[in-house]
Amino acid sequence: MKAAERSLLESPVLAPAPTPFSDTEIARVRSEFPILKERPHGKPLVFLDSAASSQKPIQVIDAMDDYYRRYHANIHRGVYHISELASEAYEEARAKIGRFIGARDAHECIFVRNATEGLNLVAYSWGRHHIQRGDVIVLTEMEHHSNLVPWQILAQEREAELRFVPVTPDGLLDLGGLDDILDSAKLFAFTAVSNTLGTVNPVKHLSARAHAAGAIAVVDGCQAVPRMPVDVADWNCDFMAFSAHKMLGPTGVGMLWGRKELLDAMPPFLSGGGMIKVVNLTSSTYASVPARFEAGTPAIAEAVGFSAAVDYLAALGMERIHQSESRLATIALRRLAEQSNITVYGPPMEQRTGVISLTVGDIHAHDLASILDSEGVCVRAGHHCNQPLMEKLGVPATARASFYVYNTVEEIEVFIAALDKAKRIFKIA
Ligand code: ALA
Repeated sequence: MKAAERSLLESPVLAPAPTPFSDTEIARVRSEFPILKERPHGKPLVFLDSAASSQKPIQVIDAMDDYYRRYHANIHRGVYHISELASEAYEEARAKIGRFIGARDAHECIFVRNATEGLNLVAYSWGRHHIQRGDVIVLTEMEHHSNLVPWQILAQEREAELRFVPVTPDGLLDLGGLDDILDSAKLFAFTAVSNTLGTVNPVKHLSARAHAAGAIAVVDGCQAVPRMPVDVADWNCDFMAFSAHKMLGPTGVGMLWGRKELLDAMPPFLSGGGMIKVVNLTSSTYASVPARFEAGTPAIAEAVGFSAAVDYLAALGMERIHQSESRLATIALRRLAEQSNITVYGPPMEQRTGVISLTVGDIHAHDLASILDSEGVCVRAGHHCNQPLMEKLGVPATARASFYVYNTVEEIEVFIAALDKAKRIFKIA
């Protein structure tokens, strides 16, 4: 498929918004992230690893602190005041986070530990209920291990067939043969945004092709939900998983959104307290969704923090966040292109977001990241939980810089200067 055709297929919610954040707005945002005052190795902290996990504003830290100080109690069990407050906060968080991603019904929103657990939930519950011997599961070559390994295990267990949508050398999905690959498939699982290359995939189109083939569409929304407007109704997918910690929220909580009629028909994943209706010694009946999929005491404080993170992002505006991140990535790509001996991986800016993978000469990514760290610059180095994609690109590892709401153009210059230092140390011209 040609680039022009692909861009026509992009969801309208990804259309660029007119106004990136002003310097004053970014300065205000930065003042709300206590960690940005840290000085690793005596240098200002330049945090370019938000695709791995973002930093947290004081509003999120305070919301969790307030919960523990004033109304911590287990939820859905106590009949006393503070337990009711905690239950209300937890359910309000579910509804708010659901609205943030376009869910029409809070019952379709399941709190999980992270996107990985959400994808495993689908693989174990929907997958083991529906996938039989010889069935076809379709993935892409750019999937994070969390959207690859659960399907491998399912396919091995059920003797199902795995097929893959290939990735082009410039890091796009090669959609030319998509309908053939999807022929007779039962499930198509794919990422909305590549965590290594920043490629923005045409989710709406991929969901439509999955449905035309009779498959369900499972979306890894981990990198998309933090950085652009997401509307699961517009995407018309069937499941979508994402993590709070990549979108200013705490670790240990995420969400799986699923179509109600699919969730209603699915057996439990984890079992125990909170997910049952009636239990006797030899069998049990199960609660309706979402409780059926939330066994045990959930991450209550983390749900409260997740809710505060969504408030923070919504106040900034997801279109402006997307626009601001694209602006930083555009500047970074231009500056990187001006440097010698730097290879940047992934598609052109129109088809990517603020995640940039690169190598510098033959410096190993871990050495590069250590030198950047000595200048206060944090990047991720390695295979990024994307080993098959790295193999396809023909590199063992890259250094990855990723931008978020608190990053500045000045930090790009610090990054470039730190790359120069690495080249000097390794005597690369
Ligand atoms: N999935 C996270 C990343 O890409 C950890 O870095």
